Amino acid sequence: MVYRSWAEIDSKRLIQNTENVHKYSKKDILAVVKADAYGHGSIEISRILENINYVKKLCVATAEEGKELREGGIKKEILVLGGVLKEELDYFNEYNLQPVISDFNQLQLLDGKYSGSIHLKFDTGMHRLGFYPEDINRILNFLKGKKLIVDGLMSHFPSADTDPELTNHQINQFKNIVDIFKKNGVNPRFVHIQNSAGLIYRCDYCNCVRVGISLYGEKPSDKFPINIKTVMSVKSKIISIKEIKKGDRVSYGGRFEAKRNMKIGIISFGYADGLPRELSNKGFVLVGNKKARIIGSVTMDMTIIDLSDIKNPQVDDTVLIVGKNSQEEISFNSIAKMCNTIPYEIMCRISKRVKRIIL
Ligand SMILES: Cc1ncc(COP(=O)(O)O)c(C=O)c1O
Repeated sequence: MVYRSWAEIDSKRLIQNTENVHKYSKKDILAVVKADAYGHGSIEISRILENINYVKKLCVATAEEGKELREGGIKKEILVLGGVLKEELDYFNEYNLQPVISDFNQLQLLDGKYSGSIHLKFDTGMHRLGFYPEDINRILNFLKGKKLIVDGLMSHFPSADTDPELTNHQINQFKNIVDIFKKNGVNPRFVHIQNSAGLIYRCDYCNCVRVGISLYGEKPSDKFPINIKTVMSVKSKIISIKEIKKGDRVSYGGRFEAKRNMKIGIISFGYADGLPRELSNKGFVLVGNKKARIIGSVTMDMTIIDLSDIKNPQVDDTVLIVGKNSQEEISFNSIAKMCNTIPYEIMCRISKRVKRIIL
């Protein structure tokens, strides 16, 4: 196979990040591998993580994502964070997937039609999915005499990186919820609320953490205390080099005008590969040990860079879209900041056309 753009996945770093999160949290890990493991390749990432004994589950967003993992040979327990729809029930039974249940509609759907266990999710402040604490009695009554086993209780932080007051309130509220279940004889194997940003909070009554971005090596906040390293670097090639003259305009819309005669390179990586179009005229890539700026509009399959200050560039030279050389670094976070978004989105945007290579 010949490819022009590829993403290198450093499996040693993935394992080390996972180890560091485990050591810091002193808890088991439910590894979040949804959205193709944040763009890293969910089957490949799951194959690595499923060998780690304190990684107890792999978390996906949908039943379809769970099915893909099973078809890829993954044996570990799979938790489907996004719950269950009627037409997905067969997948849960057939592929041995476990749903997160967050309302009575979903609970009723499973009644008599699903033979596995569930996690119950409570809304303590995110206001996305989740039962309210007031629902507990009704849930307990519903479960009486049913075969459904509650394997986990969970909640979710919306703002662990920015709002300690809300987060601490959620930790207390969720503890009350867990206590009520325990008093009523429901003792789940897994109790979890912490995402990566939430790792800095103490939460002794939880026995596992549900983390994604920190495993992939991106800090969820500037003050994140755990030593982690970026797992994915993204690379492409220069496919053509040419000269332009002072006054020439570059790419769609002519949004860049050369102020002097310049050497430019065309790289085989555009917005269809995951380079945000917002980086037009403002982003960089790394060529050799230097930064080369993006000039003009990023196009679907190609991007134009300024090679004027790069020593002896050649067609076929590798460029780093995301990664580090001996002097410079372009991180998911630095790209995200330029685009006024979060590193999660930039990672997920790296498209299927970019071949994932596991190192
Ligand atoms: C329900 C849920 N739990 C856990 C996570 C993991 O969060 P993080 O990647 O910030 O660790 C996510 C991520 O979006 C999520 O939606």
